[in-house]
Amino acid sequence: MVSKPLVYIVIGSTRVGRAGPAIAQWTRDIAAARSSTVDFRILDLIDFNLPLHSPHIPITGYAQGFVFVTPIYNGSYPGVLKLYLDYLKKEWARKPVGIVSYSHRGGDRAAVQLKNILRSSLQMNVIDPPVLMKLDDVFPIRYAETEGPLSDQINAIVDKICQSIEARTV
Ligand SMILES: Cc1cc2nc3c(=O)[nH]c(=O)nc-3n(C[C@H](O)[C@H](O)[C@H](O)COP(=O)(O)O)c2cc1C
Repeated sequence: MVSKPLVYIVIGSTRVGRAGPAIAQWTRDIAAARSSTVDFRILDLIDFNLPLHSPHIPITGYAQGFVFVTPIYNGSYPGVLKLYLDYLKKEWARKPVGIVSYSHRGGDRAAVQLKNILRSSLQMNVIDPPVLMKLDDVFPIRYAETEGPLSDQINAIVDKICQSIEARTV
């Protein structure tokens, strides 16, 4: 049996009490319902215990696409997510990546900065637009919703990721 292409939905926060896992799970549920051709799985950075200084280690470089689920921390995305990005180099190039970003006021600043790095330094195929979520608006009810404006935005990202993977494999 041929295995499906893998896309990781990366939880970009690791603090105690984080909202990230619930938002990532919600994103994955929508993605899994939308696509039968791609295997969407959660990747929790807390499981890696990333050291600060390391050589290039191609962990997870085999995935064919990514969705980064990231909060705003002090005007940017969390350091643990940058640490993860710095682990890989050529493995990122040309792969499709979506961004789901959140904070109490919306995730715009994390998304803008992350997008720049992914595009200009890592040569990724960044899917626009990112999903920007205000936690006050969405918590906790909408995590269970699979229909609505936010779900439509996730679906748009999923469709573009699947198209990009298909185009790369033919
Ligand atoms: C260290 C830290 C810094 C934060 N800085 C900002 C910020 O600059 N702007 C903002 O809108 N929210 C900020 N927040 C609020 C977070 O976006 C919000 O708490 C979110 O739930 C954090 O994601 P997490 O729960 O997955 O860790 C900050 C939260 C933390 C923990």
